[in-house]
Amino acid sequence: MAATGISHLVFPFIFLLSLCTSASQHLNVKLYIVYMGDVPSPDYSQTAATASHVLLLHPVLGSHEAAHESLVHSYWKSFNGFAAWLSSSHVQHLSSTEGVVSVFKSKKAQLLTSRSWDFVGLPLSQQTNYLEYQSDVIVGVLDSGVWPESESFDDAGLGPIPSKWRGLCETTPDFKACNKKLIGARFYYRGFTSPLPAGEFLSPRDSDGHGTHTASTVAGSIVRNASLFGLAQGNVRGGVPGARIAMYKACWSLSCSDVDLLAAFDDAIYDGVDVISVSIGYSTGGFLPPPDYFEDSIAIGAFHAMKRGILTSNSACNDALEGSVCNFSPWSLTVAASTIDRQFKSELTLENQMSFEGHAINTFIMEQPWYPLVYGGDAANVSGGFSSEDSSGCGLYSLDPSIVEGKIVVCYLSSPGDLPDGGVYVSGGAGAIIMYDPMNDTAFSFMVPATVISRKQGEVVRSYINSTRSPIASIAKSVAGNDSPAPITASFSSKGPSKITPDLLKPDITAPGVDILAAWSKVAPMSIDPLDKRVVDFNIISGTSMSCPHATGAAAYVKSFHPDWSPAAIKSALMTTALDATLDGNEAAELGYGAGQINPLKAINPGLVYDTDANSYINMLCSQGYNETSLRLLTGEFISCSSKLSKQGVWELNYPSIMVISNASEPFLAQFPRTVTNVGPAKSTYEVKIDAPFGMNVTVEPDTLTFTSSNQKMSYNVKIESQVIPDNYALLSGALTWSFGNYSVRSPILVYYDVKQ
Ligand SMILES: *[C@@H]1O[C@H](CO)[C@@H](O)[C@H](O)[C@H]1NC(C)=O
Ligand SMILES: *[C@@H]1O[C@H](CO)[C@@H](O)[C@H](O)[C@H]1NC(C)=O
Ligand SMILES: *[C@@H]1O[C@H](CO)[C@@H](O)[C@H](O)[C@H]1NC(C)=O
Ligand SMILES: *[C@@H]1O[C@H](CO)[C@@H](O)[C@H](O)[C@H]1NC(C)=O
Ligand SMILES: *[C@@H]1O[C@H](CO)[C@@H](O)[C@H](O)[C@H]1NC(C)=O
Ligand SMILES: *[C@@H]1O[C@H](CO)[C@@H](O)[C@H](O)[C@H]1NC(C)=O
Ligand SMILES: *[C@@H]1O[C@H](CO)[C@@H](O)[C@H](O)[C@H]1NC(C)=O
Ligand SMILES: *[C@@H]1O[C@H](CO)[C@@H](O)[C@H](O)[C@H]1NC(C)=O
Repeated sequence: MAATGISHLVFPFIFLLSLCTSASQHLNVKLYIVYMGDVPSPDYSQTAATASHVLLLHPVLGSHEAAHESLVHSYWKSFNGFAAWLSSSHVQHLSSTEGVVSVFKSKKAQLLTSRSWDFVGLPLSQQTNYLEYQSDVIVGVLDSGVWPESESFDDAGLGPIPSKWRGLCETTPDFKACNKKLIGARFYYRGFTSPLPAGEFLSPRDSDGHGTHTASTVAGSIVRNASLFGLAQGNVRGGVPGARIAMYKACWSLSCSDVDLLAAFDDAIYDGVDVISVSIGYSTGGFLPPPDYFEDSIAIGAFHAMKRGILTSNSACNDALEGSVCNFSPWSLTVAASTIDRQFKSELTLENQMSFEGHAINTFIMEQPWYPLVYGGDAANVSGGFSSEDSSGCGLYSLDPSIVEGKIVVCYLSSPGDLPDGGVYVSGGAGAIIMYDPMNDTAFSFMVPATVISRKQGEVVRSYINSTRSPIASIAKSVAGNDSPAPITASFSSKGPSKITPDLLKPDITAPGVDILAAWSKVAPMSIDPLDKRVVDFNIISGTSMSCPHATGAAAYVKSFHPDWSPAAIKSALMTTALDATLDGNEAAELGYGAGQINPLKAINPGLVYDTDANSYINMLCSQGYNETSLRLLTGEFISCSSKLSKQGVWELNYPSIMVISNASEPFLAQFPRTVTNVGPAKSTYEVKIDAPFGMNVTVEPDTLTFTSSNQKMSYNVKIESQVIPDNYALLSGALTWSFGNYSVRSPILVYYDVKQ
């Protein structure tokens, strides 16, 4: 049970915005999405859409007026459907109505730097040499809004807005204008029925920090010598500093409703963005079944974006566990988070000369060299009814100020949600030493001077407290070390396989998502705690929310060199050139990092790509049991499913990775037909190199591909036969690589056995 809370409870600042259920307006009616697939005609209009949606609702609700009243929003620009207040009997009725693909309750999803671009091999010089290529690229970011005055959105040096842009900038009294960097900004709040929480701006302005951080990571301008109180100092910029940003604010107070996310996708696709970044996910904790593809607004939006040639890059979620990956639709890029070589350390020193290398983003320089030390369990707010056990975690109000005031308090972080710094802060403590073992790869911010050490180290500190009459200690301001082994999949990053299509390897790729410096909202507390009054222009935070915009930036970088490449080609280029992240510490292997860490510079020249079109995804869906009627609505074309209910349909998808999932009861033979398109030198001969997973025979036919022209396609077949059957759980990794000169086109192979499945 403990693991479920990791993303939001224990450390609410692992970032990913997420979707929950809306409150009902009337008794028994709830907000639903009625999704109807592709737009019926290219000249579909808002008037036509609304009229047809009311017409559809009329017989269900009994009258034209009731139909009008229940309709909340019509989608018509990029796909067809609407949001409406409905009861369960209305839903039943509508589900069997012709033209409807799915009806689902509006859920709410959660929102889930200086060094990171250098770490992935994209130095500032390579970004700035090609700024003019980037100026036509528009990145759509669905998030919590943006702080437009941030230096990261300065438009100095940018040319006119690309003529293809047809979006808009919604101005309000607190959001005056966009510029040539931030070319679009809109906000959506129809999915919210309760009043907006205090401090929210009813405008595209970001009160949270999340959207400002992600947007600046994708395409922020270059800001020289940025830092967080001197930490992580460097040239902060996005992956494509010359590209344009359009912000679609669909998230409020860390949550985003389906109604608004779909409206944001509907607009973004129509407005003319080139890539969409979504650091948002339905976190299921790895236990609950995730929504089906066509009950998942992000998968729906990404599908229609793909059909219009737009790649959606989205976060893999922060639920740590195997099987907890979210946003795994085959037509989107699913991004895990990994570390970079920088780690923030804040040293704890005891007066007896012992010291401990704690990890934290501790920006405080303590006024005195030493402070008295006390254990939280020895400082309970007894008059308030708190026991020593309660106060050992230093939770809010659990400490007695007359004991802890002016002291450093030692706290166990045990129960989810009990952030110890709040308790120490309100009772006047000078600092906190937090004992916590999980997630020691990630540094967090606290609103008092604090560092995080292991429980084992904590016991040493406690016995020191016992051993002396007046124990004293000091906590140093953090320093950054640049020597940690990396990239390693972040402990919090959700792992595959996906619960809906386990035979498709997800996540696809990994990118830096740990301790990332980027722009911040001026009204958002630095440590997320509302009591924290530190105002910062740049903040350091972690999450798959931070890795996703790195991958989006890399995708936009590739797009700037190859404006005509399909979403699948861009994804393939990123995956086949990724840095193989096989490093010690990556226990979940490819289930953690997919093809490996993004390598943008290589991705612009991949040699070969695995291209895929909408029909191939449709064929795959046929094999997953989706019926022809629904699929016809998705594509607007007649669909005849040739492969029905089989793994083959997934294996046949022309995907840049290969996965077999087996329950190990018997040997298997799996075949993967693949087609590559030559985007490198016209005349080229690629040879295959196979690194077979342990105990597998892998054969590739043919094993040489000779191209004579650009964009030529050639096919081959991969056969995987199991020889040895492990008797329990096993992850067997391998790879298939096509090489020609400097070109190396690598696909990971993962065979996953789990007899318990
Ligand atoms: C297709 O699926 C929908 C929803 O599951 C169902 O209502 C419909 O009857 C199905 N159609 C066919 C032809 O099986
Ligand atoms: C860079 O920023 C740091 C910290 O804010 C400051 O001390 C330093 O003077 C700045 N350096 C330059 C060259 O501006
Ligand atoms: C002690 O507990 C009481 C009761 O919960 C609370 O009202 C009071 O604020 C607490 N004191 C401190 C300093 O947290
Ligand atoms: C995190 O904890 C593990 C297990 O206790 C340990 O092996 C590892 O060295 C720790 N990593 C860091 C960065 O402290
Ligand atoms: C410190 O002393 C307390 C009792 O005074 C005891 O319960 C605790 O186990 C001791 N802790 C250590 C680490 O020695
Ligand atoms: C295990 O695999 C065998 C052979 O493919 C299959 O018949 C059986 O249904 C599978 N069992 C489970 C629980 O998936
Ligand atoms: C795997 O390959 C080896 C050597 O080519 C062969 O002897 C063996 O029979 C093969 N096993 C399977 C299961 O195909
Ligand atoms: C291969 O890479 C090397 C080193 O990066 C470079 O000097 C050489 O020109 C490249 N060759 C080709 C054919 O691209």
